[in-house]
Amino acid sequence: MRIRTIELNIGAEKPFTVLHASDNHLCFADLRDNERKVNLGISRANSFTGGNPERLPGYAEELFALAKEKGETVIYTGDFIDFVSVANLEYAKKLFAGADVFMAAGNHEYSLYVGEAWEDEDYKKQSFNDVLAAFPGNNIWYDERVIGGVKFVAIDNNYYYIMPEQFERFRVACSDDMPVVLCVHTPLYSENTYETLMAGKDATKALPFLMGTPAHLLDKTSNAGAKRQYPDALTLEFLDFCNHTPNLRAVIAGHVHRYAEAVLDSGIPQVMAAGGYRGEINEITIR
Ligand SMILES: [Fe+2]
Repeated sequence: MRIRTIELNIGAEKPFTVLHASDNHLCFADLRDNERKVNLGISRANSFTGGNPERLPGYAEELFALAKEKGETVIYTGDFIDFVSVANLEYAKKLFAGADVFMAAGNHEYSLYVGEAWEDEDYKKQSFNDVLAAFPGNNIWYDERVIGGVKFVAIDNNYYYIMPEQFERFRVACSDDMPVVLCVHTPLYSENTYETLMAGKDATKALPFLMGTPAHLLDKTSNAGAKRQYPDALTLEFLDFCNHTPNLRAVIAGHVHRYAEAVLDSGIPQVMAAGGYRGEINEITIR
């Protein structure tokens, strides 16, 4: 497994280290679901691993063993599973019970068959309770945890928008003086993050995969997936809030399946983890 060492200087009481992992996309399925799901699991696992499906649980187990050995909390930014299945949820529950994890949900946590439907709150409801139960000790929709005098806030922003209740709770979370680290699946739009992720790509075809990308940038692409990524008014307000809240000190995210570091328009760092299915994680020392 490849571990990238990162430092964030954000005003912690004393330095501590966390593991930041994302997007392992586990693909277990058996006939407790159905044959369609079994075949989906086989083809998705092969495509993530270049025909070496055993790597998916291999890397996940390595991550959890490392967390236990080091006694470090795992900040997990979503897409631990690729789709909802009895076997995937069972596996997640087993692993999450064995380490200290703080997690925000990804879009795939609620994906029933991957890309077969328009995914929104109604879609999410179909599997929400079962998925939530698979990640013990976490509310993967909204959660807070203080580690070393730093408040970590996990928000499920996996469909490129924020919900009013999440925003309200985040406002309250930021209302004292404690440094805050926002943990999300979908990175937040900023000029620098957009430029970093789109560098070398054709803007008429590629997608940025960021929450809050301005419409005029999404208008450039003919990719049908852009429809999903246009921000609503509340999401833009949330972004503005993030850029004007002095005790928000960093954002850590996943979703883009590549390691990248960028800054928000306010200048605070945004760290993105590579796809865990490739055996890459970040180890972040927070000072
Ligand atoms: Fe992913």
